[in-house]
Amino acid sequence: MLASKNLLGIKDLSVEEIRLILESSLGFRDVLGRDIKKVPALRGKSVVNLFFEPSTRTRTSFTLAAKRLSADVVNFSVSSSSVVKGETIQDTALTIQALGADLLVVRHASSGVPDYLSRILDISVINAGDGSNEHPTQALLDLFTILQYRKEISGLTVAIIGDIAHSRVAKSNIYGLTKLGAEVRVICPPTLLPAEIEHLGVIVFHSIEEGLKGADVVMTLRLQLERQARGFLPSLKEYFYLYGLTAERLRLAKKDALVMHPGPMNRGVEIASEVADGTQSVILDQVTNGIAVRMAVLYLFGGARR
Ligand code: NCD
Repeated sequence: MLASKNLLGIKDLSVEEIRLILESSLGFRDVLGRDIKKVPALRGKSVVNLFFEPSTRTRTSFTLAAKRLSADVVNFSVSSSSVVKGETIQDTALTIQALGADLLVVRHASSGVPDYLSRILDISVINAGDGSNEHPTQALLDLFTILQYRKEISGLTVAIIGDIAHSRVAKSNIYGLTKLGAEVRVICPPTLLPAEIEHLGVIVFHSIEEGLKGADVVMTLRLQLERQARGFLPSLKEYFYLYGLTAERLRLAKKDALVMHPGPMNRGVEIASEVADGTQSVILDQVTNGIAVRMAVLYLFGGARR
């Protein structure tokens, strides 16, 4: 059973809740493998996607997940809504609730917006990424993808490379992986470490060669240039030279190490094409698994509880 009707971050979830979501995702992955990829679990419920930031995979994934559960789903497009006429976010959210939505999936450039909306709304709020804070469904689908290839998370060494300071994917993964017993290493230049790093329970490396040694999973991240002030990096070329995941560097990790990336990728900046498309890459599995995991999230947080 889940303690909250909202999924705001992995930080707030217990290990049991994480396991429950991952187990339910397995069931939904079976559904997606059938001829008829649809179940009536959320028939009569409405899901509204409210995205204030660009998104391809996350929004499409939530949309498909809702449809596979037989929910009605509406993609609220901010650029053509009353938001451009100056409506506040609370009025927009209250309007969506008054229209009869059961679940609100929200993405916003400011950290804390989903938390704020969950306090003013009665319906379930699912965080689809808030600023540099959290992106819980991404971390859940990453855990699920690792478990597709490894028996358990506990005991694994996971190296996360890149813009840790500005990445909500990094934060949510750090919370999830450490809760489930992995050793988490972060590899980045000192300028891209978050202020709260000592409280995150990770081991910090500034040398990619050192950090990759013996890793079971290697996760690369996009530089969040839209969230960075100037001056964090000399140039993208230099970043690739120092921190890019090349085939040669990947050989320092375990022979069968998994290569992950939440997307969107900047090839030649954080990852070389031959690694992104290589045999160790599970990047497209992450995308596929995202639908099953989001089905589980929509079902557990929105449907099963009412
Ligand atoms: C990420 C995001 O938006 O936080 N993308 C995603 O949802 N898969 C990562 C990113 O933008 O770099």
